[in-house]
Amino acid sequence: MKISKPVVVILGASLDQAYMLRTARSMGFHVLAMDMNPKAACRDLADDFAPISTKDIAAITAHLDALIADGVRIAGVTTMGSDIPDVVASVSAHLGTPSISPTSAAIATDKVRMKACFAEHGIPIPWYREIGSLDELRDIIAERGPDLVIKPNDRSGSRGVFLLNASCDFADLFAKSLEFSFSKRILVEEFLPGPQISTETVMVGGVGHTPGFADRNYDGMERFHPQIMENGGWAPSVLGDEDRRAIEDLVVRSSLAMGVTDGITKGDVVLTPDGPKMIEMAARLSGGDFCAALVPLGSGVNYVRTAIELATGRAPDLSALHPKWNQAVANRYFFPPPGRLVRIDGVDEVRSWDWVDKLEFWYGVGDVIPPALSHAHRFGVFVATAPDRAQLEERVARVYETISIVIDQD
Ligand SMILES: Nc1ncnc2c1ncn2[C@@H]1O[C@H](COP(=O)(O)OP(=O)(O)O)[C@@H](O)[C@H]1O
Ligand SMILES: [Mg+2]
Repeated sequence: MKISKPVVVILGASLDQAYMLRTARSMGFHVLAMDMNPKAACRDLADDFAPISTKDIAAITAHLDALIADGVRIAGVTTMGSDIPDVVASVSAHLGTPSISPTSAAIATDKVRMKACFAEHGIPIPWYREIGSLDELRDIIAERGPDLVIKPNDRSGSRGVFLLNASCDFADLFAKSLEFSFSKRILVEEFLPGPQISTETVMVGGVGHTPGFADRNYDGMERFHPQIMENGGWAPSVLGDEDRRAIEDLVVRSSLAMGVTDGITKGDVVLTPDGPKMIEMAARLSGGDFCAALVPLGSGVNYVRTAIELATGRAPDLSALHPKWNQAVANRYFFPPPGRLVRIDGVDEVRSWDWVDKLEFWYGVGDVIPPALSHAHRFGVFVATAPDRAQLEERVARVYETISIVIDQD
């Protein structure tokens, strides 16, 4: 293969990586995407595509080694929205391209290890314990009360994350959470009350910049109890400067605790009455419109570009992380009841509104819609903008009122 431009390898070519694929192309790279699905939705956004699983480190490195032997220059490897920092770190270590270390990636994908690391570094976290049996869970409930969260040690997207209360079937939720865990390990932790914030931090030379800062939205999501799921977010946050600074300081310290001095970290933070605490931190770019829509539409900042600069050893342009404007943005999902999709009404009308940036559905007429048990079961999404939060709230409500998802529930 004759390629003159430096190559950036992007792991994944689904809709989740669309923004990164476009950004990488706009930066002048030759983009090589990999995805186990040969019909991956965004493969055509790349210059080249290889049908390789993004989890198959041996196959990825073998493919890249063959290209290098052919004279191709691989500048770096990265991804967005896919929780595979371990793969990115291993492949980068193999190639000698910049990345977080495999140890940082291992901490970021093991919630128990991450919490131990945070505790060791004095980062505030909820009380937690790994549990190996239902009896252990029952003992903890007897001791601490039932307001606890159980979750698999090594999943993402809220899969298998449950909020307990006194009337739950503990045995059932214990079994379900365990089933979701790849390694069959689960943990229980104290439920932290307070507003939840998603952050995204660019770490450069041990210094953090946090252009991603959004309020998570839980309105109406109680109906999915005991499953905990947020329904999108809001930017800019309604928190004041002091809270924002405390949270930014916390996520930078958490990144450093995990050993991430150069790279991207995505924090799940709760502003509790005792100050901000960390639920978890992922060592990757977000999926689901946070870095791809909320921040670029809200403030004009594209730090996916910075992530690509870091992964390819280009000096990052930090001035690009300053907000260029300030408008309100929200992303929201549709979670219709399970059943067979008959039709979706109101789509053309909503698409005609110029403040609707995106309206997408991932099911077609006749498809069977599963019950919403995690973010893996989202039905569709929209992104809306407005000059301020109050107008945006009205617009979000208008989209929900106008879109009617007709389901045959028999
Ligand atoms: N201890 C907790 N207190 C309050 N909410 C929590 C807690 N743990 C998890 N959650 C909620 O559940 C969501 C998913 O849990 P998280 O640990 O982030 O798992 P995942 O890796 O699936 O994202 C969090 O974003 C948060 O909204
Ligand atoms: Mg999370």
